[in-house]
Amino acid sequence: MSVSQFPALNSVGGVATTNINGTPIAIVRESTDTFSAFSLICPHQGATIGVFTNGFQCPRHGATFDKQGQWIGGQPTSNMHSYPVTYDSAAGTLAIG
Ligand code: FES
Repeated sequence: MSVSQFPALNSVGGVATTNINGTPIAIVRESTDTFSAFSLICPHQGATIGVFTNGFQCPRHGATFDKQGQWIGGQPTSNMHSYPVTYDSAAGTLAIG
């Protein structure tokens, strides 16, 4: 997918959401040339996690996660599932998973 289809990823720290094969995914621009991707399916009981101040929060029981997908508070649970991301800076494309 093309980075340019997600205006939020123009800036370092930007977060965009999308769907891959029916799974809601968050993409985070970690630096100029590195990106992370996380499943937005909550590791607690499967609700869809939302983008939240400086990270993510699950609306069902309040688990919160930082932009690296690490659990930081609320309902205790695992970290968000992450996917490997390959960025082709010449083409401006991301390969996720
Ligand atoms: S389902 Fe997300 S905190 Fe419980």
